[in-house]
Amino acid sequence: MGSFPGFQKETRVSPSRPAAVVVLAAGAGTRMRSATPKVLHAMGGRALLGHAMTAARAVDPERLAVVVRHERERVAAYVAEADPSAVLVDQDDVPGTGRAVQCALQRLDAEAATDGALVVMAGDTPLLDGETLAALVEAHAGSGNAITVLTAHVDKPFGYGRILREGEQVVGIVEERDATDAQRAITEINTSTYVFDAAVLREFLGGLGADNDQGEVYLTDVVAAAHGRGLPVRALTVDDPWTVEGVNDRVQLAALGAKLNDRILARWMRAGVTIVDPGTTWIDVDVELAPDVTIRPGTQVHGNTVVGQGAEIGPETTLIDCEVGEGARIVRAHAELAQVLPGGSVGPFAYLRPGTVVGERAKVGTFVEVKNSTLGTGSKVPHLSYVGDADIGAGTNIGAASVFVNYDGVNKHRSTVGENARTGADNLFVAPVTVGDGAYTGAGTVLRHDVPAGALALNDFGQKIIDGWVEKKRPGTPAAKSAAAARGATGEERPATGDEAGPSANDPGGAGTDGTETSVSEGSRR
Ligand code: UD1
Ligand code: CA
Repeated sequence: MGSFPGFQKETRVSPSRPAAVVVLAAGAGTRMRSATPKVLHAMGGRALLGHAMTAARAVDPERLAVVVRHERERVAAYVAEADPSAVLVDQDDVPGTGRAVQCALQRLDAEAATDGALVVMAGDTPLLDGETLAALVEAHAGSGNAITVLTAHVDKPFGYGRILREGEQVVGIVEERDATDAQRAITEINTSTYVFDAAVLREFLGGLGADNDQGEVYLTDVVAAAHGRGLPVRALTVDDPWTVEGVNDRVQLAALGAKLNDRILARWMRAGVTIVDPGTTWIDVDVELAPDVTIRPGTQVHGNTVVGQGAEIGPETTLIDCEVGEGARIVRAHAELAQVLPGGSVGPFAYLRPGTVVGERAKVGTFVEVKNSTLGTGSKVPHLSYVGDADIGAGTNIGAASVFVNYDGVNKHRSTVGENARTGADNLFVAPVTVGDGAYTGAGTVLRHDVPAGALALNDFGQKIIDGWVEKKRPGTPAAKSAAAARGATGEERPATGDEAGPSANDPGGAGTDGTETSVSEGSRR
């Protein structure tokens, strides 16, 4: 075991529960060429740092520390929001991963002595999952190792630290830029994920120099130092190198994002979800899908979306933070912060905005936009409409091409339509307005006033007929020919029409014409 005194530690009640996980997130990430810090770039709907913190939490550490420096305020704000109990550690202006861990240990020790296993991981390795991290922690716990390093064998080790071995002992880690040609030929790489005995870090970190190509304090140098004192350092090697791949630029961001998506899709397919075309389907990490959901091609399911059993989503649909009930169907739609209750139907070509609730078996049809509105059970808005800030009762049908006029230019107002109402096509609901239960409205009605339950509302504009107008005022046109033919077929005479002042194109109502007019009001037709 060697002579290092602090290493002999008492047996922990739960040997595999680490004292701390330290996530390194202080680096600049210059190769991203971004105003956004690298660790805040996202994949699968979660920042890189969020992936690391999620994996860290999976091994149930007593404390979780995140080291910050570059873009400190933004990264710190993210950490505080994602996990308020995480300890924020500020790295000083001494650069390097070794310094980052030293700062973390000092900060943790100032709170309470850190004793036992301390996991270090990078904030830019998003596919490193909790299971892999737990396996590393387990391997360390049973081993008597001073350090256990997570390694991988890769075809192209360029850029990574190489693992130097003597048999099963890891004797050092050398960075690409400091390596000899022979060392560069080594294909076993350092993943930047380790379990250290805290006392080992405390002993050796302070003595590290920065005598390397980057002039940084390298955490990797602790390995050679510990080995030099006879302490055992061993490796756990991952089977799938993707798991430990880091993001340094946006090419890797996209490649790892695609890999993450593949994993998410495979997990859902194994759990009973049909994904018709995995190549064009994107599902975020926090989405929840029930068995027998079908996802059709070209669909993205984002955020905290939850989809119930048997629902069918897509093709070409985007859902962001939505709740979709059992058996619902959503076709070619874009929806955010919307709820579609069981059996609801949306699309094709629909836009559901925040606050939309599509009731059970209710329908939002084609070219319909809905915002901050509720459709009751079985109600329908089938065609070409905008429903904004409205509550529509159960069993109601909103006629095609209707608009809830919710905005008076200054304020938004709500409107209400009761249950089992039938509103005509091309209605304008000028908010705030209430249409009672079971009411009807005529086609083309502008609803400026409330409609009592069971009433019919319409705007009695009447309809003016000017017989023979087309043949007289648009002679020779196809319309006039058809009109003449229609009259001939029924044996009618061409109606007499005044020669002057017919209705102009600008005045189709024909005010001032001396043609034969009939005025029909809705009332007189019934
Ligand atoms: C590091 C390892 C290398 C390993 C590789 C795996 C060292 C010296 N090298 O190299 O052996 O193969 O990761 O991806 O550790 N960071 C800080 N403070 C700093 C510098 C970095 O917190 O002063 C953080 C970064 O934000 C990042 C992580 O540490 O999350 C790794 O830093 P990076 O500069 O990417 O290290 P590599 O050169 O990739
Ligand atoms: Ca890196």
